[in-house]
Amino acid sequence: MTRYYIGVDLGTSSMKLLLVDCDGNIKNKVSKEYNVYFPAPGYSEQAPEDWWSALCEGIDELLCGFDRSLVCGIGAGGQMHGLVVLDRDDNVIRPAILWNDGRTYAQTDYLNNVIGKEKLLELTGNIAFAGFTAPKILWMKENESEKFSKIDKIMLPKDYINYRLTGVHASDLSDASGMLLLDCKNKCWSKEMLEICGISEEKLPKLFESYDVIGNILPEIAELFGLSKDVKVVAGAGDNAAAAIGTGAVSDGDCNISLGTSGTVFMPCKNFSSAADGAIHAFCHANGEFHLMSCILSAASCNKWFCEEILGTSDYRAEEEKVSTDALGNNHVFFLPYLMGERSPINDTNARGTLVGMRMDTTRADIYQAVLEGVAFVLKENMDIVSAAGVNITHSTLCGGGARSRLWRKILANTLNIPLEIPTTEEGPGYGGAILAMVASGEYENLSECAKKFVKIRETVYPDPDIAARYEEKYQKFKKLYPALKDFFNEA
Ligand code: XUL
Repeated sequence: MTRYYIGVDLGTSSMKLLLVDCDGNIKNKVSKEYNVYFPAPGYSEQAPEDWWSALCEGIDELLCGFDRSLVCGIGAGGQMHGLVVLDRDDNVIRPAILWNDGRTYAQTDYLNNVIGKEKLLELTGNIAFAGFTAPKILWMKENESEKFSKIDKIMLPKDYINYRLTGVHASDLSDASGMLLLDCKNKCWSKEMLEICGISEEKLPKLFESYDVIGNILPEIAELFGLSKDVKVVAGAGDNAAAAIGTGAVSDGDCNISLGTSGTVFMPCKNFSSAADGAIHAFCHANGEFHLMSCILSAASCNKWFCEEILGTSDYRAEEEKVSTDALGNNHVFFLPYLMGERSPINDTNARGTLVGMRMDTTRADIYQAVLEGVAFVLKENMDIVSAAGVNITHSTLCGGGARSRLWRKILANTLNIPLEIPTTEEGPGYGGAILAMVASGEYENLSECAKKFVKIRETVYPDPDIAARYEEKYQKFKKLYPALKDFFNEA
């Protein structure tokens, strides 16, 4: 008899749910959107209650017409780094401060330059970025001291969902890595980092591997969803580690690129190592090993912003069709995609989105193309840093909403000059979450083997030597833009 697993992707723009059977087939999918609030320039927040409502509505819809008694497990991949704080009565103290929030400029500067990058690298394997959780905790301490004093539990976004499902205050090592509180190499909280942030270990979640069961769903939750009370909830993973599982990026030499709200380049590695003086994140992976990752803050969100806010359309396909193949590598317009500041590699919360090079004959299609190309160029900058650190990327899978765009896939394959493999399942984090739940429930023994077995490639996009050469030339020009504008951004 078949058994079902629910994979949850707690994304930034929506929650995506998958119902997967024990052979890895996706039986149903549901997506529920929610708001991101930008209460001040550079701020980015969400209401944890909105995630919970999306989950409740979504699960009900997902299971409609299916035998609910066959659901055995739930696994989530969630947007990383977000600060969720609860008081003693489990009330959310303030809206969650998200991964792409740039308010912690002063706290990040303090951590990197007063505590010092070397010390941070020694304690955690990483340096501070504004989006990480530790600077957010310091920000709350300095700016909302009364609320800070009420904190009883600190958790990450998907841990909040898991807490509501099970009553267990838990996190997994891949997601906890992004807090800058974890000694990633030794897989334990860093006592010194907790001291620096003024918090005690009891306030932090208990740590698990991503494929560990944290508990069964609470009886009232089982009743609410019409599920068996034996349904297991796994610790889950940060969305990028979950996506890597869901796209089969589990061994040295693999790579997964995600074009979601953020853009990430994810490289698994068996052994822990920091790279490029912390410019690239060195975190735990969901398979019990480690990974290197770089993250840009605005990827598919640039496409969404340009189409919906600027052009006033949601017909992305129509915009794409205006760009001819001849135009690839021949654009005279450049776009810096720093709509939320930038994380890797420039680590600059003041950087801003910029269009450069327009002329009287510039068309709407040229600017649209420039927006997609700008994201590809900054991903290439990140890949260059990874290569300089000795990690050779020869091919990659591609997932996330942006991977649906044929044009973007072509631009990216030619800019990076590597083949890009498109898995049959583009919903990486949710699929990874379901695989984690299957392994935790004893359905399969070996996580990495299970991930490799399930992931099928439906299309490979190869670079074209002529187009790739033209993109290389454009990239050399693009690289000059940020250094030329850095001071302007900092003064503005
Ligand atoms: C990774 C990162 C983003 C978020 C949102 O470090 O900040 O990818 O996880 O998806």
